[in-house]
Amino acid sequence: MSPGPDPTISGLRFVVTAGGTREPIDPVRFIGNRSSGKMGNELAAAAVRQGASVTLVTAAAAPAEQPGLEVVMVETAAEMHAAVRDSLPGTRVLIMAAAVADWRPRDAARNKLKRGADTLTLELVPTVDILRTLHDDAAARGVFVVGFAAETEHVIDNARAKLAAKQLDLIVVNDVSREGIGMGADDNEVTVIGRDGMLRTIARAPKSVIADAIVRIIASRLR
Ligand code: CTP
Repeated sequence: MSPGPDPTISGLRFVVTAGGTREPIDPVRFIGNRSSGKMGNELAAAAVRQGASVTLVTAAAAPAEQPGLEVVMVETAAEMHAAVRDSLPGTRVLIMAAAVADWRPRDAARNKLKRGADTLTLELVPTVDILRTLHDDAAARGVFVVGFAAETEHVIDNARAKLAAKQLDLIVVNDVSREGIGMGADDNEVTVIGRDGMLRTIARAPKSVIADAIVRIIASRLR
């Protein structure tokens, strides 16, 4: 059963990010990742169901139009950072479900790279860490910030460290080493950790169900 509007959420503005950013190598190639954008899309839809107006900043395919949902399409980490920043005025909750690239090619080639006999070496430089940057950004003051953590080992400990390092209000942890859940899959199973130590596991379910539960936990933290 999916919940209807929640009085705590009704009328609030949410910004949700989704998908994996694409960092260009040349006009036709990019460095990407396995994120499908499903979890972010479902979070946006869940927040709309529970009464929020939502801006979805996505590097994946846009979901179907629906009232209460505005979609901003981006490709790179830098574009996602700019779009999130532009969307922040009046925002109460930011959910960073996107798989943002950590590195990008230093220089994207202007023309398509041609196959040669030699190996090709790409020089990668770090992208902007959107969550870390926003923490020191006046535009994000007063925003309840939810991060995601994609982990393959020491899942809870690594997520706790990320929550602290990025000074988040909540972190949602995905164990991406498990088959059938997480990146690219239709199902997920997550653990939600709060700044105060709260720890709740949401058992394996379709991402829409997981998204409703996450938004309910966010609502309980806003009250
Ligand atoms: N994130 C971000 N900017 C980046 C990379 C990640 O804002 N350049 C956000 C993600 O959207 C997510 C959280 O930070 O909400 C954690 O992302 P994750 O990829 O798990 O962690 P990283 O910080 O990239 O650390 P690592 O890859 O070393 O585990």
